Amino acid sequence: MSVNAPVELTVADLHPAVDDPVLNSMNFLNEVAGRWPDAVSLAAGRPYEEFFDDDAPRRWLQRFRRHLVEDLGQHPAQANRTLFQYGRTKGIVHHLIARNLAVDEETHVDPEAVVVTVGCQEAMFLVLRALRAGPRDVLLAVAPTYVGLTGAARLVDLPVRPVAGGPAGVDLADLRAQTRHARAAGLRPRACYVMPDFANPSGVSISLADRRRLLDLAAEEELLLVEDNPYGLFPAGEQGRLPTLKALDTRRRVVYLGSFAKTVLPGARVGYVVADQRVAEADGSVGLLADQLARIKSMVTVNTAPLAQAVIGGALLEHDCSLVTATVRQRAAYTRNLRHLLAGLARRFPAPSPVTWTVPAGGFFVVVSVPFPVDDALLRRSAERHGVLWTPMAHFYDDGTPVRALRLSVSAVTPEQIDLGLDRLAALVADESRRTAAPDDRRTR
Ligand SMILES: Cc1ncc(COP(=O)(O)O)c(C=O)c1O
Repeated sequence: MSVNAPVELTVADLHPAVDDPVLNSMNFLNEVAGRWPDAVSLAAGRPYEEFFDDDAPRRWLQRFRRHLVEDLGQHPAQANRTLFQYGRTKGIVHHLIARNLAVDEETHVDPEAVVVTVGCQEAMFLVLRALRAGPRDVLLAVAPTYVGLTGAARLVDLPVRPVAGGPAGVDLADLRAQTRHARAAGLRPRACYVMPDFANPSGVSISLADRRRLLDLAAEEELLLVEDNPYGLFPAGEQGRLPTLKALDTRRRVVYLGSFAKTVLPGARVGYVVADQRVAEADGSVGLLADQLARIKSMVTVNTAPLAQAVIGGALLEHDCSLVTATVRQRAAYTRNLRHLLAGLARRFPAPSPVTWTVPAGGFFVVVSVPFPVDDALLRRSAERHGVLWTPMAHFYDDGTPVRALRLSVSAVTPEQIDLGLDRLAALVADESRRTAAPDDRRTR
């Protein structure tokens, strides 16, 4: 080949994750949405756009700047530096996040244990990067599992072993069994990833009694729990919220992941991790896991954009650090939509029906089980012929077996769009039930 020819690399010479279907999941779903823009999307777990307010970020930025000057005593030039310069690796709104956790979650954490990240996604990456110390390390994760977690684990060469979720949100006996199987195979389970509130994608929540049992089990089995909680503030209707695992955690077993994407603005790309676990250094000193995560972050994103943090900080300050107060309208809209979707499903698939669905107590997601396998090809057909988008549940399992279920999201649509989307879904189900009359791959989840 001529030395002047443009270089051509092969994907086989890149990190194996690059060519892994898990890393293609979000791109595939975006590609389908982009190709059929007029389809009703019950796929995206995006927040409701009616509440985006183009004046708010400017106001929040000013509010945070006032906080720097008036509450924290920064000179105006210093405040400018805080906002416009490279900044503290662990972030500049950590104290407000700690206050938010105290106000909304009755969780009291040292602000130094908070690392502000570029979305919750970066928080996952930092935690998994830190925990993956060697080739024997594995992560346990409640299945079905958020694909962003599985993808982040791929990037750091950390195998993920599923733990049954089941109707209770986590099957504790299976968690114990999987931990022991892994150890018996010479592996080192570092943590279990779990979403106790309105999980993505299952919609299921873990009961208070099981949260306590899970914490006890983690202590007995010497596991960390990685708790991901982007949807916890959205219980449906007047239902109360349960304490998070972190709120119940007296033994620092829980690494807590937070996101402002659903509560404030996804475009700010701000999330965080609370990592208050003590870490002994080689010289005998003891620090926090947060400090080790900050070391990693300093070589990944350096620091989370201070301007984006300031926007989130101002939003917190505007509501005395309560996102429960800040999200009253959102909660009402998501409750209305969830009820509308559940009633619409019941009308279109009256019992007895081979079509069944979960009834979550809140959050964005409902899982619909159908009498045929649901894959990416079916999603394309659904988009093209029926004009409705949803997410194949197979994206949330990591073993490639056919899954007869799909995820619907209620967060980014109006009740009218839900009606239209469900009419189209019912037409798809009728078509597909006829087409696949007698398959024998009957594995259903
Ligand atoms: C369970 C879960 N964790 C994390 C995230 C990512 O959050 P962020 O947008 O803050 O990176 C999402 C986004 O949909 C999610 O559903």
